[in-house]
Amino acid sequence: MRLGVLTGGGDCPGLNPLIRAVVKRGISEFGHEFVGIENGFMGLVEPDLAQPLTMQDTRGILPKGGTILGTSNKANPFQYAVKENGRWVERDLSDVAMKRYNDLKLDGLIAIGGDGTLSIAHRLSSLGMKVVGCPKTIDNDLSGVEQTFGFDTARSIVTEAIDRLHTTAESHDRIMVVEIMGRHAGFLTLESGVAGGADVILIPEIPYRLEPIVEKIKSRGTRKRSFSIVAVSEGAFPKGGGVSVLQRAEELPGRGVVRLGGAGKVIADMLAGQIDFEIRVTVLGHLQRGGAPTAADRLLATRYGCKVLDLIRDGQWDHMVALREGKIGAVSLAESKKERRVDPRGDDVRFAKSMGICFGD
Ligand code: F6P
Repeated sequence: MRLGVLTGGGDCPGLNPLIRAVVKRGISEFGHEFVGIENGFMGLVEPDLAQPLTMQDTRGILPKGGTILGTSNKANPFQYAVKENGRWVERDLSDVAMKRYNDLKLDGLIAIGGDGTLSIAHRLSSLGMKVVGCPKTIDNDLSGVEQTFGFDTARSIVTEAIDRLHTTAESHDRIMVVEIMGRHAGFLTLESGVAGGADVILIPEIPYRLEPIVEKIKSRGTRKRSFSIVAVSEGAFPKGGGVSVLQRAEELPGRGVVRLGGAGKVIADMLAGQIDFEIRVTVLGHLQRGGAPTAADRLLATRYGCKVLDLIRDGQWDHMVALREGKIGAVSLAESKKERRVDPRGDDVRFAKSMGICFGD
């Protein structure tokens, strides 16, 4: 078969190991031929962004972060940003994507991405494109998938950052607020917050009140060392308030979602009038997505890359590979439209609370 491969949405560690697994197993076991579609779905809309993807191209990429194919999170063919009369407008160019897919003589497409990329893949599938998906994202917010690759690496990076903030917080008796990615899901903040020993964890699924947070910080103030670490998700917000937005969806043509940011400053400003400690805010930003994947992410991505070829062999188009109960299986791409969230009453939050962590509720 002649198969296209693309990576869409925000990059994350593990994309290259997955591309490598697909190409290695695909060529050696199935005799497939691969075409690398560059910059996500942009490569199916714009000309000259499709190149042969060979074994040689994947040599040495296993430990590398990012993606050798490039990516884009504003290249939705159904809502494609084009400049007309000096203004950005969104147009449905799905027919162009379908035509390029046919012109490239592809027998199928492997779309590697998060909810955005996979739901585009599902829509293209309904137009007749043969697509299979591989779920990635540091947010871990995909329904039907226990763990996306990229999450483990980001969780390790954030945990290490919290460890580092601990020593300086302790030396100065400061409140360290650390803002963590994850969009509207709190998995990354919750898990790295617990692993790093944060005192306060604020996630989008639990709108917070200031009083319990102040109380928690003040109660720590009675100890010999009275610093505190506040891990705040970029999508967290106070009860009755809204999420902190850096850029509105209208300012991001082709993307269709807001850019989050500023949640750390919001809670820091709210705390400032209530406590005597000095407060510092650290925004981890894209450090969370860069660099080498962990061993766990390399393994998961390799397993996903190998398994997706089984789906193709079995004609399971319009499905994605998914880790469920420790096994890699297949889930309909329609699932990607549903989002996964932290259960505020689930064990993970319950056990974190029993460690004395305050969620501001
Ligand atoms: O979805 C992955 C993610 O890193 C989110 O956690 C974050 O909100 C967003 O992407 C950042 O996007 P960008 O790279 O466009 O700033």
